Amino acid sequence: MSESFKALMASAVGERDYEVSFKEITEDDLPDLPVLVEVDYSTINYKDALAITKKGRIIRSFPMICGIDIAGKVISSDDDKWQTGDDIIVNGFGLSETEQGAYSRRQRVSADWLVKLPKGLSPRQAMAIGTAGYTAMLCVQALEDHGVKPQDGEILVSGATGGVGSIAIMILAKLGFSVVAVTGRMEHQDYLKSLGASDVIERGELDRDAKAMEKERWAGVVDCVGGKTLSTAIAQTKYNGTVTACGLAGGFALNSTVMPFILRGVKLIGIDSVMASISKRQKAWLRLAQDIDLDLLEQGITDIDFNDVPTACADLLEGRTKGRMVVKVN
Ligand SMILES: NC(=O)c1ccc[n+]([C@@H]2O[C@H](COP(=O)([O-])OP(=O)(O)OC[C@H]3O[C@@H](n4cnc5c(N)ncnc54)[C@H](OP(=O)(O)O)[C@@H]3O)[C@@H](O)[C@H]2O)c1
Repeated sequence: MSESFKALMASAVGERDYEVSFKEITEDDLPDLPVLVEVDYSTINYKDALAITKKGRIIRSFPMICGIDIAGKVISSDDDKWQTGDDIIVNGFGLSETEQGAYSRRQRVSADWLVKLPKGLSPRQAMAIGTAGYTAMLCVQALEDHGVKPQDGEILVSGATGGVGSIAIMILAKLGFSVVAVTGRMEHQDYLKSLGASDVIERGELDRDAKAMEKERWAGVVDCVGGKTLSTAIAQTKYNGTVTACGLAGGFALNSTVMPFILRGVKLIGIDSVMASISKRQKAWLRLAQDIDLDLLEQGITDIDFNDVPTACADLLEGRTKGRMVVKVN
């Protein structure tokens, strides 16, 4: 029998429940997919926290190895797109939902899910970015694709102390945008300014019932929280501005009117990282290697021991973390 290794797994309990625990598994327990990878690092995203704490319906089949992000090396490949020793990243593509995930020293994945680790990034830095940072970049690229430029005015970033928000601030500030961070944790305003926010506002300023249209302020928005914050941000977006919606940390409802869209030409762009095409991912990762201040990224990393992932997941959902957590799996 092949050597055993540790994996963080969700196992069904009866028809409707599951439990998450560390299990010893072997390569025989991995799925029948062509690329065997050594998982060096992973991270903890909002979705990982929902899955592991059982607070969200993320996992669709059991038993499931949790974890949506992998940075590692190809051990062997039955598909010639990939060779032994290639440094790779996998984000999403159903990992920890319908496909076996990252919290395992080894994993087998489809050859179509992998992105080359861009030059200039270490696997640890790639996981400090993770799905959260890659999603932040998809939001920034959507703003750019819709013509938003630094000279157009301020960009609002909500859920600012979180993974997506904190990296969006870093990228936008490096690109020369003036960034306003909205947070429920004003005690972290110095941290948000150190990432590049020029102003920090309290969550309550947006998390309230909005009028159909309010005073124009934002040239662009990166919204990670949804709900009333997103409705207010739309109502305050300037003529021709663009709002990117990627998250629901504050709620999935959206109450708005058509007014900002038909009178100000506001654009609301949905962002999905999970099933984005490989070419979109590759472009986003190349930009991440180029447009992130790596010293700043390093300063914001919290290293999490593999054994402590369940506790860190609970901390994330309780608002006890900020920035990005990196997990050394191997
Ligand atoms: N579309 C996609 O493909 C994609 C990819 C990645 C993530 N996401 C989603 O994006 C969101 C953010 O992800 P993340 O990884 O950044 O999560 P995170 O690290 O947990 O950050 C979420 C942030 O949202 C704010 N927040 C939390 N509860 C809130 C509430 N009740 N009302 C308003 N704000 C609240 C907090 O920031 P402050 O304390 O600073 O306010 C928190 O730090 C999640 O909903 C996640 O599912 C979507």
